[in-house]
Amino acid sequence: MSYPYQITNIEQYHRDYKRSIEDPAEFWSTIAEHFTWKKKWHTTLNWNFSEPKIEWFKGAKLNITENCLDRHLEKFGDTPALIWEPNDPDEHHRILTYRKLYEKVCQFSHVLKNNGVKKGDRVCIYMGMIPELAIAVLACARVGAIHSVVFGGFSAQSIADRLYDAQAEYIVTCDGAYRGQKDIPLKSVIDDALIGNRIVKKVIVTTRTRTPVSMIKGRDLWWEDEIKKVETLGLTDFPAEEMDAEDPLFILYTSGSTGKPKGVVHSCAGYMLFTTYTFVNVFQYQQGDIHFCTADIGWITGHSYILYGPLSAGATTLMFEGVPTWPDAGRFWNIIDKFKVNILYTAPTAIRSLMGFGLGPVHGHDLSSLKVLGTVGEPINEEAWHWYDEHIGKKKCPIVDTWWQTETGGILISNLAGITPSKPSFATLPLPGVHPILVDENGKEVEGNNVSGNLCIKSPWPSTIRTTYGDHERCKTNYFATYPNLYFTGDGALRDENGFYRITGRVDDVLNVSGHRIGTAEVENAINMHANVVESAVVGYPHDIKGQGIYAFVIYQGSHAQNTHGTAEMIRKDIHQTVSRIIGAIAKPDKIQFVSGLPKTRSGKIMRRILRKIAEGETENLGDISTLLDPGVVEEIKNGKL
Ligand code: PRX
Repeated sequence: MSYPYQITNIEQYHRDYKRSIEDPAEFWSTIAEHFTWKKKWHTTLNWNFSEPKIEWFKGAKLNITENCLDRHLEKFGDTPALIWEPNDPDEHHRILTYRKLYEKVCQFSHVLKNNGVKKGDRVCIYMGMIPELAIAVLACARVGAIHSVVFGGFSAQSIADRLYDAQAEYIVTCDGAYRGQKDIPLKSVIDDALIGNRIVKKVIVTTRTRTPVSMIKGRDLWWEDEIKKVETLGLTDFPAEEMDAEDPLFILYTSGSTGKPKGVVHSCAGYMLFTTYTFVNVFQYQQGDIHFCTADIGWITGHSYILYGPLSAGATTLMFEGVPTWPDAGRFWNIIDKFKVNILYTAPTAIRSLMGFGLGPVHGHDLSSLKVLGTVGEPINEEAWHWYDEHIGKKKCPIVDTWWQTETGGILISNLAGITPSKPSFATLPLPGVHPILVDENGKEVEGNNVSGNLCIKSPWPSTIRTTYGDHERCKTNYFATYPNLYFTGDGALRDENGFYRITGRVDDVLNVSGHRIGTAEVENAINMHANVVESAVVGYPHDIKGQGIYAFVIYQGSHAQNTHGTAEMIRKDIHQTVSRIIGAIAKPDKIQFVSGLPKTRSGKIMRRILRKIAEGETENLGDISTLLDPGVVEEIKNGKL
């Protein structure tokens, strides 16, 4: 069975696309008719990019969980909503039908309410990939609280910063999380994050690894105890809070070119519509299909395409706790075989890393259930694309290369599986409602085909970022001020002779390491926290598996200090430790080169362009270095390249 708003052929794509650009309000209001509203809207779209102010479905009232759960109960109550595969393949998987998931979300909504959580309150969620994470997210949405999920790889310091920025009063976490061979003590990280915090009132802790945890009276509560209280009262329903279309649904922190992550805010109605619409159309989801998105719910991909998009479409979504390489590099293929997965959505990094294990781990697994493959998060190189196509899709599954961002909420540029053509390493065409343009350095539109430029979007789609939490000005400066009246993505792109887009990578100081966004300034700040570091400069360089690696040039205090503090290798480890403490292990530099100076202009600005070239292995064409304060430093850096 398909959906009333499903695009079923290429002519329809072109027709719908044209309609959506000519009259976005008409286009999206027709689609909105297929959702459950408590009250309909009076104005479909009201916007200007100069403030920015973006309002979709003004006047409407809804709760996204009624769309993700309640409306499916009658027809799909017994259909699996969530399939959960544990880290350890010997542990039993869990299947939550729509009814079961509904009940669990309602129960946990009571728990939140019993503990004082109200509409608009911020709840930080720091958990491993277990069903309780999905339940906690949905329960927040049901009571109208704003969830802020923090990826389990971030450090206590990062959590503390995010808690403070969001002024969060509640936390939901677990004792620990399993990831491959590791057992990560999440609650203990939360305890560290809470030292000196006077805002958080309650921490709800679910058990997973049953690692010892400290439980503080009056603040920390066991999830299981709280649920028991609700069960004793026999409560299995919870009336969904009435939300305005534009009420914030969640905050998700992401890195930018400044040192401090931004709290990207998405609102209820537009986000719901766009994630559902793109899920159904990009992956060409058919009722009964099993959708496996391998992302973590701590990132936007997990929010939009493990949870909200699929559930709102009444789909079956598969959530995996572990990692692709444990207990062996056949884990994804094993899961696909075990559950007869139809759609696989993963990151190029994962594909490249699995390619490295050869075909052995793929053999012996039946992958014939696969119909559609997807990639997300970073450019996919042609070699990885062909490997995915040939060895996983057996040349019969369209590959959708989906380009989007935390700020866009859902997929903006992608082929539609089997409907519009694919082209290796090209995201191809925009989704209906999305109006991309390329501009030059001066903001002038670059027209025609076979051109390149900075990628901007001309008008709002329903899940456009609404604000950066607590600082609207920052949202404006970051996304809407570089080029007047345009949303600037921070990406460069080219448009080929067919009008297909290829994303060439970030044009700002943001790195994409294994599909994770990391700001160079953030890493520099962390490195500079090391007591002996005088200054540092961080750039990206091409990395075979991660896409980009992190290269740090570091001025370490006094050359003799290296001897006092151990070998260079030991000092590198100290710096790693410092970065892990401040941000998390994901931001550890792959290479650290000690230098005596950095290439700076006379006004003191670091010339990153030069460092980037050196890190990329370029030694000759470094461009004009005559404006440098001390051109000699370049030679030294070149000679010391790692
Ligand atoms: O540079 C683009 C890259 O990832 C950035 C967005 O990162 P994040 O907000 O973490 O969201 C990742 C998941 C949506 C973009 O600015 N990117 C994302 N998808 C692609 C991509 N680059 C090339 N091709 C893609 N398909």
